[in-house]
Amino acid sequence: MAALGRLVAGVAHELNNPISFIFGNMHALQSYGEKITLFLNATEQGLSGGDMQKLRQELQIDRIAKDILPLVEGTLEGAERVSDIVQDLRRFSGNQKQGVEEFALSPVLHTAANWVLRGAKNKPLMQIDCAESLHIHAQKGYIHQILVNLVQNAVDAMEGAQAGKIEIGVGRHEGRICISVRDNGPGISAQNLGKIFEPFFTTKPVGQGTGLGLYVSYRMADEIGGTLRVENHAGGGSRFALCLPERPL
Ligand SMILES: Nc1ncnc2c1ncn2[C@@H]1O[C@H](COP(=O)(O)OP(=O)(O)OP(=O)(O)O)[C@@H](O)[C@H]1O
Ligand SMILES: [Mg+2]
Repeated sequence: MAALGRLVAGVAHELNNPISFIFGNMHALQSYGEKITLFLNATEQGLSGGDMQKLRQELQIDRIAKDILPLVEGTLEGAERVSDIVQDLRRFSGNQKQGVEEFALSPVLHTAANWVLRGAKNKPLMQIDCAESLHIHAQKGYIHQILVNLVQNAVDAMEGAQAGKIEIGVGRHEGRICISVRDNGPGISAQNLGKIFEPFFTTKPVGQGTGLGLYVSYRMADEIGGTLRVENHAGGGSRFALCLPERPL
């Protein structure tokens, strides 16, 4: 029950952020819409050029025009965040099944990394090392989602740090294909190493992490016959390895 309470509180906070953002933006857009309509109506009333110019300034039409795109983009980002959270929750409840398909791994790694970087304030250097020709058989959506979670965590861990770097590499290990995500952040304390895959375990402030990312990723890896492991790297930072069977279950 305590875990459920934490889940509800965490998810409510997580959802509240983007939703209030969306509300704020939509209110602004509503008032912009009214002003633009006023201005357009005025163009049909045969006002002189000077009066039109004055009205344009009064209604701040030029500022509105500049503001619309960022407002819409911000709103879309907020809506995406809400949809990501809902998807995480769906996966958490385990009622979504995905089929195995053959696909090139490299584009999936690049897309996942780009998704995260697009939303990152402090963008670390990203190095992806994967042969274009490497195709694997797996549940593509799961691989994408796990990678997004790992890269997001790495970006979060290096927030505010200078010279942050993330390396994504692919190799074969004991007949398995292993994708590793390594960062040069602070790493994970010995005390937390055993807990990070637990549901709702997070060291992030309320509203910034539900503590579900790694739990969900671990379960997805397991479901497709793979493993997800973590270690602190000797050179500093942490390294996560997602290892998949060559042929899925
Ligand atoms: N690359 C990393 N470096 C340092 N700590 C990490 C790293 N990845 C995960 N952690 C630790 O593991 C915790 C759990 O990660 P997890 O992804 O499950 O949840 P979260 O990131 O806190 O929240 P969510 O992913 O649900 O938004 C994090 O709060 C952080 O303390
Ligand atoms: Mg996370």
